[in-house]
Amino acid sequence: MSSTRETNDVIFRQSNRVTLRPVSESDCDVLTKWINDPDVQQYLEAYLPMTKNEEMTWIKTIQTRDIGSLVVMIIADGKPIGNMCISGIDHRQGTAVTGTLIGNTDYWGKGYGTEAKMLMLEYAFNVLNLRKICSDVIAFNTRSTSYSLKCGYKIEGYRKKQYFAKGKYWDQVQLAVFRKDWKPYWKAFAKEHKNNLRI
Ligand SMILES: CC(C)(COP(=O)(O)OP(=O)(O)OC[C@H]1O[C@@H](n2cnc3c(N)ncnc32)[C@H](O)[C@@H]1OP(=O)(O)O)[C@@H](O)C(=O)NCCC(=O)NCCS
Repeated sequence: MSSTRETNDVIFRQSNRVTLRPVSESDCDVLTKWINDPDVQQYLEAYLPMTKNEEMTWIKTIQTRDIGSLVVMIIADGKPIGNMCISGIDHRQGTAVTGTLIGNTDYWGKGYGTEAKMLMLEYAFNVLNLRKICSDVIAFNTRSTSYSLKCGYKIEGYRKKQYFAKGKYWDQVQLAVFRKDWKPYWKAFAKEHKNNLRI
């Protein structure tokens, strides 16, 4: 069995419709496609065209596990639909930042992001022992703000005119969730997903 096959068979976390697994070299093509899609990229801090070589370098970097972050692929209906990360892990402060990219736009707004994020928050709070997870969103990305609110995040503030995009400046919405505020959301989620939950 090839190492790619082995990586793709690993289940890191699972719920009713979503599996999270490690990123492998075989994801390079789809990751390159997503990051270069203007419909997706408009919501990200990335703004340069990315080559397959650059994407492969990034994959190899995250596989070294020396970068204080965890990146996983989101799988639904047997295929990758996006990726998600916990980065900026600070064990002294007990904080980290989440980032998500559902690159297959057919899967937007159907609850997959929420499902994947709940699984990652469970890992952040119950395994990494973090206490607060943050997320920064460009103001026009209302879908992203909504799905974070659905996981228990609250808006802590707005950094004014922080991002330049689409020819003008936009506020940054600063969201965060504390472990204690996430717990009731997790209780409901765990009940709904109990037959397929793997954590
Ligand atoms: C942001 C993202 C991760 C959210 O994942 P998702 O699976 O699309 O989100 P969900 O369906 O779980 O939740 C979205 C919620 O936003 C709301 N929503 C859906 N479409 C919306 C829209 N066009 N505008 C505002 N809100 C919207 C819905 O209320 C939905 O909640 P509901 O299930 O109660 O109806 C995903 O859309 C994505 O990757 N987008 C492109 C990249 C990106 O924006 N990344 C985040 C950068 S901060």
